[in-house]
Amino acid sequence: MTDKPSGLFHRDRSWHPAALTPPYKTSVKRSPAAAPISMPSTLSEDTGPVFTRDILGPQDADLIHNFASEGQSAIGPRIIVYGRVLDENGRGIPNALVEVWQANAGGRYRHKKESYLAPLDPNFGGCGRVITDEHGNYEFHTIQPGPYPWPNGPNDWRPAHIHFSIFGASFGQRLITQMYFEGDPMIWQCPIVGTIPSREAIETLVAALDMRRTVPMDARAYKFDIVLRGVRQTMFENRMEGL
Ligand SMILES: [Fe+2]
Repeated sequence: MTDKPSGLFHRDRSWHPAALTPPYKTSVKRSPAAAPISMPSTLSEDTGPVFTRDILGPQDADLIHNFASEGQSAIGPRIIVYGRVLDENGRGIPNALVEVWQANAGGRYRHKKESYLAPLDPNFGGCGRVITDEHGNYEFHTIQPGPYPWPNGPNDWRPAHIHFSIFGASFGQRLITQMYFEGDPMIWQCPIVGTIPSREAIETLVAALDMRRTVPMDARAYKFDIVLRGVRQTMFENRMEGL
């Protein structure tokens, strides 16, 4: 069944985390206390925003170098993250804006409210962006982020992850999510991951190591496909906006 008039498929809310998930402590204050109100979308949500490549800087898709001093590079395991942005029918979405942000290899963010003891890397900013090609492909180069502790329970740690924001063909396809790494045991300890209702759903957020795309003596590759709507939509972070 599709929404009208946009033609976008409804999201399956049982596949996504509930807004209120007390083991993820801040969801208690963030989640709405009243039932959401359904509103029909209008032209502004159905048709925009539109992004073109002229907004991109030459190193936007290279987090290893885009904050580094001349001749320097970020510290950490070098990786390529690539995949496709797909619509509900499995078709690649061209010209989707994919924005990413992450901690450095020690698990520390470059943010004024960061409190973790791990040091900043002077050559790593932690932000990047790319626009998908005509088939919905994207790729960026970065370093593998480290896990980090966060003030939730007495000893909670986030698994290594990269945050993603994706603008598809319209606001109706906006998605914010997180990507995890194949084989990381911390995934299964995380209270945020634990808000996702099923193991099958969690596994859609785990990027697979892909040795075929690895560049010898340079970088390993991880593959992460993203589905913006429909019954197999990639998990939306547990907040109600966009659902
Ligand atoms: Fe994070």
